[in-house]
Amino acid sequence: METFREFIKSNEELVCRAFGEELVVSNWTEFRKQVEQIYELCKKNEQGQVATYIPQLGQVDPSNWSVSICTVDGQQLNLGNYQEYFTIQSVSKPFVYAIALDHLGQDTVHKYVGKEPSGKMFNELILNHENKPHNPMINSGAIVTCSLIHSMIDSFGNKPSLVFERTKEYFEKLAGGLHVGFNTSVYISEQETADRNYAISFYLKEHKCFPSNSKLSETLKFYFRCCSLNVSTSVLAAMGSSLANYGINPLTSEKIYKTSSVKNTLSLMYSCGMYDYSGQFAFEVGLPGKSGVSGAMVIAIPDVMGIGLWSPRLGKLGNSKRSIQFCRELVKTFPFHQY
Ligand code: DON
Repeated sequence: METFREFIKSNEELVCRAFGEELVVSNWTEFRKQVEQIYELCKKNEQGQVATYIPQLGQVDPSNWSVSICTVDGQQLNLGNYQEYFTIQSVSKPFVYAIALDHLGQDTVHKYVGKEPSGKMFNELILNHENKPHNPMINSGAIVTCSLIHSMIDSFGNKPSLVFERTKEYFEKLAGGLHVGFNTSVYISEQETADRNYAISFYLKEHKCFPSNSKLSETLKFYFRCCSLNVSTSVLAAMGSSLANYGINPLTSEKIYKTSSVKNTLSLMYSCGMYDYSGQFAFEVGLPGKSGVSGAMVIAIPDVMGIGLWSPRLGKLGNSKRSIQFCRELVKTFPFHQY
């Protein structure tokens, strides 16, 4: 247990800013109280169904509900089952896209993937008018960004084990040193029920959507591995705060992504991050976010905070019911809507 003196010393910058009232959330006690009230309100919501198309996802306790916040100056708030781990699923997609942007640049990445919402389900077998996946936040687009990382980033080693290791390291840095795990059972379960993702990949191959040297089966395995990374809401909040802080993790002060990669990623999270609910989410909540079928969600409020949410019951369009309600209530209480 550290002494008060040690605490002040190791948190010198935070303490100085707090006394100078320079923190982005200056009245933390009041903020916490209001967030707790929203959390409790949403806890009563038992609408929606847990995803079962990947059998391992169906085994999770539907009552789980956690919310974590990490501000761009490192204040943290954790509510509910925030120590429970779950698979990140499609919440990995923006972070994988940003890795591709960081190493290959936006011109190269967008030779292969578009920037428009698809207006369809996340696992739809469709391409845009240029025969590219609509955006990197849906399955087809994420499978393509995975192929770019796998076959075009030489510094990642060009071997499946090394490419995954480098990618996981990125996630660990984004999480500011919090533990990022891997769920082997979900990974196996994903592969056993991957007919649609295989169908999408062959459709992409038919339309020459992949770089010439990419290998379809390795690309798909890498995609499933990214979906099977295990996180908690504290981890997601820290990852979101790295986006909200222009690529610098507030807990470690490490610069992880280029500022331009973060800008592009937040733009596409804003317009395409919530499946076929993205337009309504942008309208009502006005924040960049990304959801996944495990009931996970990440929100980044630029210059303010990252938020991690998890509740496994999903609505018809695949978003966590409680998490969506939480975001709606949050922007009613605080002026976080971008417009
Ligand atoms: O592709 C799948 O089926 C999942 N592993 C990812 C699903 C997911 O979260 C959908 N998101 N867009």
